[in-house]
Amino acid sequence: MERKEFIKNCGFACIGGTALMAFLQSCASTAYFAQTALEDNKILIKKTEFLTTKKEKIKKRKLVLVKSEKFGFPICVYKISEVEYSALLMQCTHKGCELQPQGSFLVCPCHGSEFSNKGVVQNPPAEQNLLTFKTTIDNENIYIHL
Ligand code: FES
Repeated sequence: MERKEFIKNCGFACIGGTALMAFLQSCASTAYFAQTALEDNKILIKKTEFLTTKKEKIKKRKLVLVKSEKFGFPICVYKISEVEYSALLMQCTHKGCELQPQGSFLVCPCHGSEFSNKGVVQNPPAEQNLLTFKTTIDNENIYIHL
């Protein structure tokens, strides 16, 4: 390989790496893991976890993720309305892959199944809805009943 070609290839690799990092960072910003507390057999999430500040403006999150050691997969919590939240185990019911949130859907990267923000199958090959957890709220918190 000649010096000129080597430098050109290094330049493309740097640009590609930078673009990949920017892409991964944008993906990471959509999947926010909320701060939680465990109370009896409930996970507690402050409602303020659905708010974020960007350039001094308060924005609302559609969803937050919650770590769950008990189930081995994260739980995705969607804000359906001011008084309704859904909590879904992010394990695909087809072959068990971890789902990825994409807007109001959870998508399986393995074979393409899609689930609604209430855990209902929208696209096969999965046939069963997701495992869901009962949620309750008070003025400040959301509770996921395990
Ligand atoms: Fe999710 Fe197959 S494991 S679609």
